[in-house]
Amino acid sequence: AMRNELSNLVRTVEDPDTKRAFDTEMQSFFYLFTRYLDERARSQELDWDRIKSPAEDQIVPYSKLASSNSSSFSKLAVLKVNGGLGTSMGMTGAKSALEVKDDMTFLDLTVRQIEHLNTTHRVDVPLILMTSFNTHEDTLRIIKKYANQQLRITTFNQSRYPRIAKDTLLPCPKTADDDKSKWYPPGHGDLYNALMHSGVLDQLLAEGKEYLFVSNSDNLGAVVDEKILQHMIDTQAEFIMEVTDKTKADIKGGTLIDYEGSIRLLEVAQVPSEHVEDFKSIRKFKIFNTNNLWIHLPALKRVMQAGELELDIIINPKTTDDGQAVIQLETAAGAAIKHFKNAHGVNVPRSRFLPVKSCSDLLLIKSDIYSLQHGQLVINPNRMFETTPVIKLGDHFKKIAQFQKRFKKIPHIIELDHLTVTGDVYFGRNVTLRGTVIVVANEGQRIDIPDGCVLENRLLSGNLNM
Ligand code: UTP
Repeated sequence: AMRNELSNLVRTVEDPDTKRAFDTEMQSFFYLFTRYLDERARSQELDWDRIKSPAEDQIVPYSKLASSNSSSFSKLAVLKVNGGLGTSMGMTGAKSALEVKDDMTFLDLTVRQIEHLNTTHRVDVPLILMTSFNTHEDTLRIIKKYANQQLRITTFNQSRYPRIAKDTLLPCPKTADDDKSKWYPPGHGDLYNALMHSGVLDQLLAEGKEYLFVSNSDNLGAVVDEKILQHMIDTQAEFIMEVTDKTKADIKGGTLIDYEGSIRLLEVAQVPSEHVEDFKSIRKFKIFNTNNLWIHLPALKRVMQAGELELDIIINPKTTDDGQAVIQLETAAGAAIKHFKNAHGVNVPRSRFLPVKSCSDLLLIKSDIYSLQHGQLVINPNRMFETTPVIKLGDHFKKIAQFQKRFKKIPHIIELDHLTVTGDVYFGRNVTLRGTVIVVANEGQRIDIPDGCVLENRLLSGNLNM
């Protein structure tokens, strides 16, 4: 039935070239879908008892890497996965189009970082952006202004797969140009297919590029690191995953495991429900995947040509705006690690994982805690503690539009340790927060922090007339 429906979808396309590309896409989708059905029928789950922590030598501490002055940058390309929306922050366009610092967007900062790399080392590292149908236009708008610059920027679109109705297991869209809400980008694991089908993989190889550094477009800590590149070359690793020590707050990221002697990525979505608590604990799984990945391109081509790049399926159940239960079959880029030789993890400092997953993260990055150096965030030297403040903004600040409305200006927080805000709270200009500050507006109340206000170790709650 699914196959029929997909053929019908393909038939709705008139232009022959578009039709061919769309047909290929639907075939890839169908392949994923049949794997899903197959696994479901065999109720294939990971056997929890066979999951072991990775062996010592499978995760190399960053501090053990030799210092290097890598001359290998000429073989490097940088890719940002930029197909996600940041739905948890209420974004409807590309998250990377958000202004994060000094009026610059994530994309602008990435461009700065790579321009700096290229000028300091006199190399020509290209920037590649993987977009999705959700983010393509935003991305093009931002990079347009770099068209006449030195830096080469290539974009390619990832796949667009049909959402599947949960009850019938049939595709939601009825025509190839059916509404956006009927489709989804199938996760960053789609990177490999999209790289190949777009021709970008062959183009890179033809240019003599051998290494690809991949990271999330919202991770401002993911700068090119010559030690890791050199380490990859020295160990002839075809794939390196940067991992970092897990804290109690990091429950979302996947972790590296040893499964019957081979290294694998384990995502929370793959964990049987009775073991989820176990998975989240930091005792058994000490590290998590930053999604900073280093990939040997000739090896990638080899594995893809052999048709062996199967990635674990992540089932993402969703409810559409009109209340329909659907499923999305997705994959994660890091899951590819199991297909490569000498693949292993490098345990990097936390500073290489600086993502913006929530408006609390955004507040921190926009604040005076960080300043910019060539597009890279560095902790303000005036900060007296090594750690960054813990910021917990409540549900009223969850959506980006609310966040922007509630902070007239980002407060000064250089001496802040902890901030919790709940309820209907607004911040004026020039506010300074120090130590531990807790602001709680109860149901039906509103708190306005006036312009110029200084709060130091204060608990504000209830009805407030300041
Ligand atoms: P996440 O899955 O963490 O999502 O993507 P997100 O975009 O931060 O936001 P939510 O979950 O919707 O709130 C991690 C990285 O992978 C990219 C995103 O753009 C981000 O850089 N991504 C995600 C893709 O490129 N394609 C996808 O299909 C999904």
